[in-house]
Amino acid sequence: MPSRKIIIDTDPGVDDAMAIFFALRSPELDVIGLTTIFGNVETELATTNALRLLEIAERIDIPVAHGAERPLVGPFKGSVPFVHGDDGQGNVHLPLPTNQRIHTTAVQFIIDQIMAAPGEITLVPIGPLTNIAQALRREPRIATHVKEVVLMGGNAFCPGNASPAAEANILNDPEAADTVFGAPWPVTMVGLDVTHKVNMTPEHLARYSQINNPMAQHIARIVPFYRQYFETDFSGMRGIYVHDSSAIAYLIDPTLFRVERWPLRVETRGISRGKTWPAVSNRETSAHFVPWHNRPLVNVCVEVDSARLTALELSRMA
Ligand code: BDR
Ligand code: CA
Repeated sequence: MPSRKIIIDTDPGVDDAMAIFFALRSPELDVIGLTTIFGNVETELATTNALRLLEIAERIDIPVAHGAERPLVGPFKGSVPFVHGDDGQGNVHLPLPTNQRIHTTAVQFIIDQIMAAPGEITLVPIGPLTNIAQALRREPRIATHVKEVVLMGGNAFCPGNASPAAEANILNDPEAADTVFGAPWPVTMVGLDVTHKVNMTPEHLARYSQINNPMAQHIARIVPFYRQYFETDFSGMRGIYVHDSSAIAYLIDPTLFRVERWPLRVETRGISRGKTWPAVSNRETSAHFVPWHNRPLVNVCVEVDSARLTALELSRMA
């Protein structure tokens, strides 16, 4: 089978690096570009890190396009050095990359690639959804020309991680997320409902340092900082939750997940800003369901085979 062409929209980010390498080492996937976004770090550093990661992977043939620097509405609330390090890569402070970003913006790159190959390109956003929403606004036909959108973000039936209500990628641009979930294209949400059930233990993580390739070695260097965040913030936790790589795993083997289909809205106001709300009831006729009327059904991942997912990722890195 020919491999599936994907564009990863990313804010690297320790787990973004793991996801990008996982994709690059999977023959089912053909990464045709990385587009960058603020989130774990500012967009400028996200672009630098994307270039650095491709250099480590010896894949500087893959273009990197610089993305939006702020959400659709209001300012970017700031990066999270306590999760991913000041450099977004666990404070290992890599040298500057020698390869360069392309001149095309992320939004234009996404539009150009999708319109040039109708039905072939899958978008894989693993950061805030600003670039994707802007691309939709500039060229609405991408909704019918894309193959699929598989994103990491959101929390349908569980609490958030960036606030009690919201997951970090969605909270960084709720208006963009509501646009993406409302567009007439096939969207799969790989959110905290599943990623908080996928645990890479210290024993799993120790294997990276035993694998003799530059990508695994980079992960082994950056993951201790990230692990410390989880073990400090989540009482009793050992190791890390697998966020961004879960979206990659879905692309490779969707049977790892159980999916339900719901219309989704994103709260944009108040203390629940960023909460992804499925319309769960059989009372759709009620006036209270009007905000969900005519919304497309989104594939929401609700269950996952955690053991099989972590084994898949580790096997690809070896
Ligand atoms: C998401 O937020 C970021 O910190 C991670 O890279 C992931 O994309 C998890 O909520
Ligand atoms: Ca990310």
